[in-house]
Amino acid sequence: MNIRVFRTPSDAGIYAASMVERVITSSERPVIGLATGETVLPVYDALVNLVRCGLDVSHVTTLNLDEYVGLSPNHPQSYHWFMREHLFSRIGTPMQATHLPNGVAPDLEAECERYNDLIRNHPIDIQLLGIGVNGHIGFNEPSHTLITGTHVVNLTPETINMNARFFSRKDDVPRQAITMGIQSILQAKQIMLLAFGEHKADIIYEALKDGIRTDVPASMLQLHKDVTVILDSHSAARLGL
Ligand code: GLP
Repeated sequence: MNIRVFRTPSDAGIYAASMVERVITSSERPVIGLATGETVLPVYDALVNLVRCGLDVSHVTTLNLDEYVGLSPNHPQSYHWFMREHLFSRIGTPMQATHLPNGVAPDLEAECERYNDLIRNHPIDIQLLGIGVNGHIGFNEPSHTLITGTHVVNLTPETINMNARFFSRKDDVPRQAITMGIQSILQAKQIMLLAFGEHKADIIYEALKDGIRTDVPASMLQLHKDVTVILDSHSAARLGL
Protein backbone atom coordinates (compact mmCIF):
# COMPACT_ATOMS: atom_id res chain seq x y z
CA MET A 1 0.00 0.00 0.00
CA ASN A 2 1.18 3.44 -0.89
CA ILE A 3 0.40 5.78 2.05
CA ARG A 4 0.67 9.53 1.49
CA VAL A 5 0.19 12.07 4.27
CA PHE A 6 -0.65 15.69 3.42
CA ARG A 7 -0.71 18.90 5.42
CA THR A 8 -4.32 19.74 4.56
CA PRO A 9 -7.35 18.00 3.01
CA SER A 10 -7.12 20.51 0.21
CA ASP A 11 -3.51 19.46 -0.65
CA ALA A 12 -4.65 15.84 -0.46
CA GLY A 13 -7.59 16.58 -2.75
CA ILE A 14 -5.28 18.05 -5.39
CA TYR A 15 -3.12 14.91 -5.28
CA ALA A 16 -6.15 12.60 -5.53
CA ALA A 17 -7.62 14.61 -8.40
CA SER A 18 -4.33 14.40 -10.29
CA MET A 19 -4.43 10.60 -9.93
CA VAL A 20 -7.93 10.64 -11.43
CA GLU A 21 -6.72 12.96 -14.19
CA ARG A 22 -3.96 10.50 -15.09
CA VAL A 23 -6.58 7.77 -15.57
CA ILE A 24 -8.87 10.07 -17.57
CA THR A 25 -6.12 11.15 -19.95
CA SER A 26 -4.60 7.71 -20.43
CA SER A 27 -7.73 5.76 -21.31
CA GLU A 28 -10.13 5.96 -24.23
CA ARG A 29 -13.15 5.08 -22.10
CA PRO A 30 -12.23 5.75 -18.48
CA VAL A 31 -14.58 4.52 -15.76
CA ILE A 32 -14.26 6.32 -12.45
CA GLY A 33 -15.82 4.98 -9.24
CA LEU A 34 -17.09 7.88 -7.14
CA ALA A 35 -17.99 8.31 -3.48
CA THR A 36 -19.93 10.74 -1.32
CA GLY A 37 -19.21 12.29 2.09
CA GLU A 38 -17.32 15.27 3.40
CA THR A 39 -13.94 13.62 2.77
CA VAL A 40 -14.22 13.59 -1.01
CA LEU A 41 -15.26 17.24 -1.34
CA PRO A 42 -11.67 18.55 -1.75
CA VAL A 43 -11.16 15.98 -4.52
CA TYR A 44 -14.24 17.23 -6.39
CA ASP A 45 -13.15 20.88 -5.92
CA ALA A 46 -9.75 20.02 -7.41
CA LEU A 47 -11.30 18.03 -10.27
CA VAL A 48 -13.61 20.92 -11.13
CA ASN A 49 -10.53 23.18 -11.22
CA LEU A 50 -8.75 20.76 -13.56
CA VAL A 51 -11.77 20.72 -15.88
CA ARG A 52 -11.87 24.54 -15.85
CA CYS A 53 -8.19 24.44 -16.85
CA GLY A 54 -8.88 22.21 -19.84
CA LEU A 55 -9.22 18.58 -18.67
CA ASP A 56 -11.67 16.86 -21.05
CA VAL A 57 -14.15 14.62 -19.21
CA SER A 58 -16.66 14.16 -22.02
CA HIS A 59 -15.60 10.52 -22.52
CA VAL A 60 -15.78 9.62 -18.80
CA THR A 61 -18.28 7.20 -17.27
CA THR A 62 -18.85 7.31 -13.51
CA LEU A 63 -20.33 4.76 -11.14
CA ASN A 64 -21.15 5.74 -7.57
CA LEU A 65 -20.82 3.40 -4.62
CA ASP A 66 -24.18 3.76 -2.98
CA GLU A 67 -27.52 5.48 -2.42
CA TYR A 68 -30.07 5.59 0.42
CA VAL A 69 -33.17 3.43 0.07
CA GLY A 70 -36.29 5.59 0.02
CA LEU A 71 -34.71 8.90 -1.04
CA SER A 72 -35.58 10.06 -4.54
CA PRO A 73 -32.85 11.69 -6.67
CA ASN A 74 -34.44 15.06 -5.88
CA HIS A 75 -34.16 14.68 -2.11
CA PRO A 76 -31.47 17.12 -0.89
CA GLN A 77 -29.88 14.39 1.26
CA SER A 78 -29.80 11.82 -1.55
CA TYR A 79 -26.45 10.92 -3.02
CA HIS A 80 -27.84 11.79 -6.48
CA TRP A 81 -28.31 15.33 -5.19
CA PHE A 82 -24.86 15.35 -3.53
CA MET A 83 -23.14 14.35 -6.77
CA ARG A 84 -25.05 16.91 -8.87
CA GLU A 85 -24.34 19.66 -6.35
CA HIS A 86 -20.64 18.96 -5.74
CA LEU A 87 -19.45 17.62 -9.07
CA PHE A 88 -21.71 16.96 -12.05
CA SER A 89 -23.36 20.39 -12.33
CA ARG A 90 -20.04 22.18 -11.81
CA ILE A 91 -18.36 20.52 -14.78
CA GLY A 92 -19.25 22.45 -17.93
CA THR A 93 -19.14 19.54 -20.36
CA PRO A 94 -21.41 16.68 -19.39
CA MET A 95 -19.68 13.39 -18.80
CA GLN A 96 -20.59 10.51 -21.05
CA ALA A 97 -22.66 8.79 -18.37
CA THR A 98 -23.08 9.02 -14.61
CA HIS A 99 -24.63 6.18 -12.63
CA LEU A 100 -25.89 5.74 -9.08
CA PRO A 101 -28.12 3.03 -7.64
CA ASN A 102 -31.79 4.04 -7.63
CA GLY A 103 -32.94 4.08 -4.00
CA VAL A 104 -36.60 4.34 -4.97
CA ALA A 105 -36.66 1.50 -7.51
CA PRO A 106 -39.91 -0.49 -7.09
CA ASP A 107 -37.95 -3.76 -7.07
CA LEU A 108 -34.73 -3.30 -5.09
CA GLU A 109 -33.42 -6.79 -5.88
CA ALA A 110 -33.77 -6.10 -9.61
CA GLU A 111 -32.07 -2.75 -9.08
CA CYS A 112 -29.09 -4.49 -7.44
CA GLU A 113 -28.86 -6.83 -10.44
CA ARG A 114 -29.05 -3.88 -12.84
CA TYR A 115 -26.18 -2.23 -10.97
CA ASN A 116 -24.10 -5.42 -10.94
CA ASP A 117 -24.54 -5.63 -14.73
CA LEU A 118 -23.46 -2.01 -15.09
CA ILE A 119 -20.29 -2.69 -13.09
CA ARG A 120 -19.62 -5.85 -15.13
CA ASN A 121 -19.99 -3.88 -18.36
CA HIS A 122 -17.94 -0.92 -17.11
CA PRO A 123 -14.94 -2.24 -15.18
CA ILE A 124 -13.79 0.51 -12.83
CA ASP A 125 -10.35 1.98 -13.56
CA ILE A 126 -10.00 3.93 -10.32
CA GLN A 127 -12.28 3.87 -7.27
CA LEU A 128 -12.47 6.74 -4.81
CA LEU A 129 -13.31 5.72 -1.23
CA GLY A 130 -13.95 7.41 2.09
CA ILE A 131 -14.25 5.42 5.30
CA GLY A 132 -16.92 5.45 8.01
CA VAL A 133 -15.73 5.74 11.63
CA ASN A 134 -16.88 2.12 12.02
CA GLY A 135 -14.73 1.01 9.06
CA HIS A 136 -17.43 0.82 6.40
CA ILE A 137 -16.57 1.44 2.76
CA GLY A 138 -19.48 2.39 0.54
CA PHE A 139 -22.16 1.14 2.91
CA ASN A 140 -20.55 -2.26 3.55
CA GLU A 141 -21.14 -2.25 7.27
CA PRO A 142 -19.17 -4.28 9.88
CA SER A 143 -20.66 -7.77 10.08
CA HIS A 144 -19.82 -11.46 10.45
CA THR A 145 -20.10 -11.80 6.69
CA LEU A 146 -19.46 -9.37 3.88
CA ILE A 147 -21.48 -9.49 0.66
CA THR A 148 -19.69 -9.58 -2.68
CA GLY A 149 -22.08 -7.82 -5.08
CA THR A 150 -24.50 -4.90 -4.96
CA HIS A 151 -27.04 -5.38 -2.18
CA VAL A 152 -29.53 -3.72 0.13
CA VAL A 153 -28.01 -3.18 3.56
CA ASN A 154 -29.52 -2.37 6.94
CA LEU A 155 -27.47 0.54 8.26
CA THR A 156 -25.97 0.11 11.74
CA PRO A 157 -27.22 2.31 14.61
CA GLU A 158 -23.77 3.99 14.58
CA THR A 159 -24.10 4.96 10.91
CA ILE A 160 -27.69 6.12 11.40
CA ASN A 161 -26.51 8.33 14.28
CA MET A 162 -23.63 9.75 12.23
CA ASN A 163 -26.03 10.55 9.38
CA ALA A 164 -28.62 12.14 11.67
CA ARG A 165 -26.71 15.47 11.54
CA PHE A 166 -27.91 15.89 7.92
CA PHE A 167 -31.63 15.43 8.65
CA SER A 168 -33.99 17.67 10.60
CA ARG A 169 -35.68 14.72 12.37
CA LYS A 170 -34.04 11.47 13.43
CA ASP A 171 -37.04 9.57 12.07
CA ASP A 172 -36.20 10.86 8.58
CA VAL A 173 -32.73 9.26 8.55
CA PRO A 174 -32.78 6.32 6.11
CA ARG A 175 -32.38 2.90 7.72
CA GLN A 176 -31.27 1.13 4.53
CA ALA A 177 -29.05 1.74 1.53
CA ILE A 178 -28.07 0.08 -1.73
CA THR A 179 -24.32 -0.39 -1.91
CA MET A 180 -21.75 -1.91 -4.21
CA GLY A 181 -20.36 -5.02 -2.57
CA ILE A 182 -16.84 -5.71 -1.40
CA GLN A 183 -15.92 -7.74 -4.47
CA SER A 184 -17.11 -5.01 -6.83
CA ILE A 185 -14.92 -2.52 -4.95
CA LEU A 186 -11.90 -4.84 -4.94
CA GLN A 187 -12.25 -5.43 -8.68
CA ALA A 188 -11.41 -1.80 -9.42
CA LYS A 189 -7.98 -1.67 -11.06
CA GLN A 190 -6.83 1.08 -8.71
CA ILE A 191 -8.24 2.28 -5.38
CA MET A 192 -7.76 5.52 -3.45
CA LEU A 193 -8.84 5.56 0.20
CA LEU A 194 -9.08 9.00 1.78
CA ALA A 195 -9.52 9.95 5.43
CA PHE A 196 -9.00 13.22 7.27
CA GLY A 197 -9.21 14.25 10.92
CA GLU A 198 -8.48 12.91 14.36
CA HIS A 199 -11.80 11.03 14.50
CA LYS A 200 -10.58 8.72 11.70
CA ALA A 201 -7.17 7.91 13.29
CA ASP A 202 -8.26 4.75 15.14
CA ILE A 203 -10.17 3.24 12.25
CA ILE A 204 -7.34 3.99 9.79
CA TYR A 205 -4.97 2.15 12.11
CA GLU A 206 -7.34 -0.84 12.36
CA ALA A 207 -8.00 -0.91 8.61
CA LEU A 208 -4.34 -0.77 7.58
CA LYS A 209 -2.28 -2.24 10.39
CA ASP A 210 -4.42 -4.91 12.04
CA GLY A 211 -5.32 -8.13 10.20
CA ILE A 212 -8.20 -8.50 7.78
CA ARG A 213 -11.51 -8.53 9.67
CA THR A 214 -15.09 -8.49 8.43
CA ASP A 215 -15.98 -6.18 11.32
CA VAL A 216 -13.60 -3.63 9.76
CA PRO A 217 -14.69 -3.85 6.10
CA ALA A 218 -12.00 -1.39 4.96
CA SER A 219 -9.32 -3.88 6.10
CA MET A 220 -10.28 -5.95 3.00
CA LEU A 221 -8.37 -3.34 0.99
CA GLN A 222 -5.18 -5.02 2.24
CA LEU A 223 -5.97 -7.73 -0.32
CA HIS A 224 -5.77 -5.30 -3.27
CA LYS A 225 -2.52 -4.78 -5.13
CA ASP A 226 -2.91 -1.10 -6.04
CA VAL A 227 -4.26 0.99 -3.17
CA THR A 228 -3.18 4.54 -2.41
CA VAL A 229 -4.15 5.79 1.05
CA ILE A 230 -4.42 9.57 1.21
CA LEU A 231 -4.41 11.04 4.73
CA ASP A 232 -3.73 14.17 6.72
CA SER A 233 -1.45 14.14 9.76
CA HIS A 234 -4.47 13.75 12.10
CA SER A 235 -5.90 10.61 10.50
CA ALA A 236 -2.36 9.20 10.13
CA ALA A 237 -1.51 9.86 13.80
CA ARG A 238 -1.47 6.19 14.90
CA LEU A 239 0.46 4.80 11.95
CA GLY A 240 3.87 5.70 13.37
CA LEU A 241 5.12 7.07 10.03
C1 GLP B 1 -21.05 7.57 4.10
C2 GLP B 1 -20.74 7.02 2.72
C3 GLP B 1 -19.32 6.49 2.65
C4 GLP B 1 -18.37 7.55 3.22
C5 GLP B 1 -18.70 7.81 4.66
C6 GLP B 1 -17.75 8.77 5.34
O1 GLP B 1 -21.35 6.59 4.99
N1 GLP B 1 -21.62 5.96 2.33
O2 GLP B 1 -19.00 6.20 1.31
O3 GLP B 1 -17.05 7.09 3.10
O4 GLP B 1 -20.01 8.34 4.67
O5 GLP B 1 -18.25 10.08 5.31
P1 GLP B 1 -17.40 11.35 5.60
O6 GLP B 1 -16.45 11.48 4.46
O7 GLP B 1 -18.41 12.47 5.62
O8 GLP B 1 -16.70 11.15 6.89
